[in-house]
Amino acid sequence: MQQKILVLHGPNLNLLGTRQPEIYGDETLQDVNHALHERALLAGWELVYRQSNHEGELIDAIHTARDDGTGAIIINPAAYTHTSIAILDALNAFDGKVIEVHISNVHQREAFRHHSYVSLRADGVIAGLGTQGYHAALEAIMRAAN
Ligand code: DQA
Repeated sequence: MQQKILVLHGPNLNLLGTRQPEIYGDETLQDVNHALHERALLAGWELVYRQSNHEGELIDAIHTARDDGTGAIIINPAAYTHTSIAILDALNAFDGKVIEVHISNVHQREAFRHHSYVSLRADGVIAGLGTQGYHAALEAIMRAAN
């Protein structure tokens, strides 16, 4: 596997830290990306981050990962988790490992959050660990490559 991982954050995650902190915590997206970057750097991995509020931009980022030798994708598709067949199709065209992360425990929340299109493709799904879920995903990818 290539030593490069795409961390892809979906809509509204740019508001992390201020958006419903009782559900999503008070860490910002920058805090999360920075901590992941530090950990990956120590282990000699390259991380690339993207956040978009637009479905097509998330799909374009997955296509880029497909073409530039990215070995794995950590994705929190946010609300697109529950609606986007197009993101599922893009991930199906990507050959590397895919880990789906949700900060909150989506299964404890409204029924419409219980279904994930992305889970049909994801190699692993993490929900409810707060932002630590991203770290669990990163560790899993790095360990699987060793
Ligand atoms: C989320 C859960 C989704 O249902 C929601 O739409 C989000 C964030 C999470 O990280 O817990 O925006 O993916």
